[in-house]
Amino acid sequence: MTPEGWVVVLLAAIGVGQLAYWELVLCEGAHLGPRVVAATYDWVARRYDADIKHFDPVVESTILGLPLATALIEVDAPRVLDLAAGTGRTARALVRELAFDGSVVNVDLATRMLRTGRDALPAHAAERVGWLRAPVDQLPFADAAFDAVVCLEALEFVPDAERVLREALRVLRPCGVLLITHRVGPYARLILGHYLSRTDFAALLGRLPLNDIRIERWQVEYDLAWAIRSAESGERGARGV
Ligand SMILES: C[S@@+](CC[C@H](N)C(=O)[O-])C[C@H]1O[C@@H](n2cnc3c(N)ncnc32)[C@H](O)[C@@H]1O
Repeated sequence: MTPEGWVVVLLAAIGVGQLAYWELVLCEGAHLGPRVVAATYDWVARRYDADIKHFDPVVESTILGLPLATALIEVDAPRVLDLAAGTGRTARALVRELAFDGSVVNVDLATRMLRTGRDALPAHAAERVGWLRAPVDQLPFADAAFDAVVCLEALEFVPDAERVLREALRVLRPCGVLLITHRVGPYARLILGHYLSRTDFAALLGRLPLNDIRIERWQVEYDLAWAIRSAESGERGARGV
């Protein structure tokens, strides 16, 4: 091959490498479908909690476990669903709270993330926490089956966030608690076609059968939204009819 030919091959290889880095590392496979996203998480599952997220029990209690347990304090043995739960961060935080006497079902497509979370859960909490491999937009649960539905750090990866939220609201009982994150910050914009500005995200929540929507700054890359599923218009909105 001529020297010019080698230069073309080299530039093409660099371009493909950069494209692969953008899609698989920065976007975590978001444009290649949920199975690829799940595969990227399965790949790092064993390192996710300690090395990637650096979860700290005290911080998790402050920003997640205690506020959610408090929001559910009036409910007797609340049933919580964590969508795209990964290693079960919400369950881990909730079962540590004295104020929480309920149960949590974790749903995710990444089998190794679920298995890692199940292995890390204290034995005394095992009976209160379920683990299920399923896509978040097609849940195998009855309508209004849960008192709270949570979805943290995941909506930016799904093909259709509104569809996932409508499915979440189908399985959330009227007046139940919805707790979700919205990805913000410079890296959020790199997930082309998935990024929602703060205005767009608020408008999306406004189209859903929700009351008392409250969006707060949460972490560097995420806002946190709390809302209550409305009692009356829920069926229509939740089914997207
Ligand atoms: C950044 S992790 C968040 C995990 C957990 N919520 C947390 O805050 O630690 C994103 C998770 O979403 C899951 N996920 C992405 N798309 C999914 C889908 N369509 N159905 C089910 N799980 C999905 C991935 O497998 C991964 O475990």
